[in-house]
Amino acid sequence: PTVHFTDAEGVVRDIEGNAGDSVMETAVRNGVPGIVAECGGSLSCATCHVFVRDDCLDQLPEMEEMEDEMLYGTAVDREDNSRLSCQLRLAEDTELFVTTPETQV
Ligand code: FES
Repeated sequence: PTVHFTDAEGVVRDIEGNAGDSVMETAVRNGVPGIVAECGGSLSCATCHVFVRDDCLDQLPEMEEMEDEMLYGTAVDREDNSRLSCQLRLAEDTELFVTTPETQV
């Protein structure tokens, strides 16, 4: 699986991830800036906010209610394509394009 992270300045980092990991874990393990993930993936911080490229939205799991609620507490306001990256698991064939917000806190 591959995740292409674009930061708020437009710098792109293409990361080879492992199936089963979340997008958040993939970022943290590879030193991708722009994801803070204060709570370590337990859906209680909203500092792992990403914007998902529109044509990648279909391959994602549907949002649970808790994620939806947490997305109202992000540092940069949510958009229609906002997700919390700790809730996005990579599959073998995942190829995902995400943008990280200007700040997470
Ligand atoms: Fe805290 Fe995703 S890492 S909500």
